[in-house]
Amino acid sequence: MTTDELPLRGRRFVVTGGARGIGAAVVRLALAQGADVAFGYHRSADQADALCDELHAAYPDRRCTALHGRVSDSTGAEKFAAAALDCLSGGLDVLVNNAGVNQDVVFARMRREQWDEVVDTNLGSMFNVTRPLVMPLTKGGKGTIINIASASGLHGAPGQTAYSASKSGIIGFTKALAKEVAGRAVTVNAVAPGFIHTDMTDMIPPPQACHLKTLIPTGEFGSADDVAALVCFLASDRARYITGQVIEISGGLVI
Ligand code: NAI
Repeated sequence: MTTDELPLRGRRFVVTGGARGIGAAVVRLALAQGADVAFGYHRSADQADALCDELHAAYPDRRCTALHGRVSDSTGAEKFAAAALDCLSGGLDVLVNNAGVNQDVVFARMRREQWDEVVDTNLGSMFNVTRPLVMPLTKGGKGTIINIASASGLHGAPGQTAYSASKSGIIGFTKALAKEVAGRAVTVNAVAPGFIHTDMTDMIPPPQACHLKTLIPTGEFGSADDVAALVCFLASDRARYITGQVIEISGGLVI
């Protein structure tokens, strides 16, 4: 195969929340495009094992390792980061900060624990995971960080104050870190999905999902594979001159 067919050949990826949904689609596509991957999971051990088995069978020459890692917790995240580096022979080229949760509730009724869970997982994990990996990432001569934000972080969404705040925080973090590390040949970008078919959006009651589709110009939710294609493009050399950007992928939800 040519480099064009395997644009991520030899790239070492770390992906958080990689056992299902968007994270699993990124893991699959990165392996398919030639990468080695260490991914984290929290509660989905069976899905993580099944994904590794599937990918070892499909790509026996590439590394794919599932590691337990609760990224909302600094100790758990540090252990995960150290174990991921070990699996990838001490270095990495691409970090995808994907793990995230939502707790949809109107703000007047939101409990402090709900706020904390969302902010600690979505935004706290940016510190917990990126901090131990940013220096190793600069060592390979070039590196990429891709943070999964959300259209809610760009535009706000009712019932999602904590989620929107955490995802806006990711956008600020992305832009500031991009400026800090650009001189070390590391790019940092955020991807902001709209409504994507995963376990997260399967919780939306069908009548509400039908209504939401009427607000999307393309008339449908996106797929995890749509997001993975963008992430893998940003991780490739083709995107080497893109940094500090937020790329919305939402079927034109806001134009
Ligand atoms: P998902 O619920 O299938 O995946 C979330 C992943 O994060 C899971 O693998 C879960 O185990 C992991 N996770 C949650 N808390 C964790 C913790 N404390 N430590 C480690 N891992 C943890 O949902 P989906 O849709 O695949 O979400 C992936 C990312 O995309 C999230 O950051 C989400 O906010 C974002 N996103 C999703 C959208 C959608 O419509 N599905 C829209 C916009 C953003």
